[in-house]
Amino acid sequence: MSKAYYRVHNIFSDKKRKEMIELANKPGAFIDNSYGISFYKHPLQLDDLEIDGVWQVQMLRQTVKESKIHKDRNRNNEFDNIYMPRNAVISWPIQGDGDTIFYDDNKNVIDRVSYDNDGAILNTGGYFHNVVLNTEQPRIMFQMCFDSSFDDVVSFYEGHLKDERY
Ligand SMILES: [Fe+2]
Repeated sequence: MSKAYYRVHNIFSDKKRKEMIELANKPGAFIDNSYGISFYKHPLQLDDLEIDGVWQVQMLRQTVKESKIHKDRNRNNEFDNIYMPRNAVISWPIQGDGDTIFYDDNKNVIDRVSYDNDGAILNTGGYFHNVVLNTEQPRIMFQMCFDSSFDDVVSFYEGHLKDERY
């Protein structure tokens, strides 16, 4: 099993995905940052989606063909200071398509995950990574963000989240 990613199923209804896309496409919904992926400005507004749990929800928007290679860390949201864990995330594409590529500390490619309308748990704190778009339109992702370890999030998904539907 890869230590960088773990494939998961879609757990959202078409109606819920439509609500996500509507929120994402409101003017000024995202704040840009340095590496080609914008963050949803007010993550607490995403509570309206009623997808609550031991995670923080967030949406990301990528417009550049290839985002910068980086590792994430737990931090406070740059716009309104909401705590945003990013040690491991579960990421579902809701618009557009792309692959997440993982690298070792010398920036050699070690893994690549495609989504095929499902999602993946990403070891965003453990490995360098970036995203290459496969489609022209901006890619929008819905994420559950965790400060627990990648292995713990995989266990949590298998034990609790796999059969949930939103
Ligand atoms: Fe990242």
